Amino acid sequence: MIVIRQLCRSFSEGAGAHRVLDGAEGCFRAGETAAVVGRSGCGKSTLLNLICGIDRADSGEVQIGGRIVTAMGEPQRTLFRRAHIGFVYQFFNLLPTLDAEENVRLALELNGIRGAAARQRSAAMLSAVGLGDRLRSAVDRLSGGEQQRVAIARALAHEPAVVLADEPTGNLDEETASQVLRMLLSLARSRGTTLIIVTHDPWIAARADRVLELREGKLVAADASAGPHAAGGARHDTESGRAPVRRTGIS
Ligand SMILES: Nc1ncnc2c1ncn2[C@@H]1O[C@H](COP(=O)(O)OP(=O)(O)OP(=O)(O)O)[C@@H](O)[C@H]1O
Ligand SMILES: [Mg+2]
Repeated sequence: MIVIRQLCRSFSEGAGAHRVLDGAEGCFRAGETAAVVGRSGCGKSTLLNLICGIDRADSGEVQIGGRIVTAMGEPQRTLFRRAHIGFVYQFFNLLPTLDAEENVRLALELNGIRGAAARQRSAAMLSAVGLGDRLRSAVDRLSGGEQQRVAIARALAHEPAVVLADEPTGNLDEETASQVLRMLLSLARSRGTTLIIVTHDPWIAARADRVLELREGKLVAADASAGPHAAGGARHDTESGRAPVRRTGIS
């Protein structure tokens, strides 16, 4: 469970300050998938950076699985993030000098899983995203959709309690985006991962359990028309139901 209380973050702008988050509050249940929407520049990426502790809030609190991330020092936050949080970015952020399997394995090795166990798990994760035959492919030779599937395998390989996805399909064509989103939802749901997806795409938002909008620095329930049962377009959707399994000790 993620609890956000009275989160504030401003950036200096000229002589003044631009207040991006202004007392944002919210709660994400263990295992739920939530979409966060809002206009460009409203602070969605800033919010994710504060949740995972890449950035520090001016005030307020982020709690994940009972641990207060905002009270941790930098080294603690780095270790916490590495163990309990996975990321999927719009531009994949893979290491181009490594192959697909090595990219996934790195996330495991950073968490102390090494050798045959790590190789086995990274291969299994890549198979789960349909890339079992591309383990040795250089990632810069893969298509955008394939690269994002490697990124999803990497984000979930160490079974983090939380996965943060910042416009994970923003750089993909519509059909590939649907396929990649289905894999992300299905993997997160089958593992009981709390998934927060920042998106501009109503079709994606409609597939989340809940939609929140970041507006004037606060998180509010989004318009019902963007909810899970709303008409979210014609794209085919077959992700499986949930069967939460929690192994990281944080939820
Ligand atoms: N490190 C920073 N220094 C100064 N200003 C920043 C910094 N990071 C973000 N901002 C500002 O904070 C505001 C929110 O940025 P953020 O990237 O969180 O928006 P966003 O909602 O993710 O937008 P988009 O949908 O375009 O990705 C923007 O006005 C941005 O310029
Ligand atoms: Mg952003």
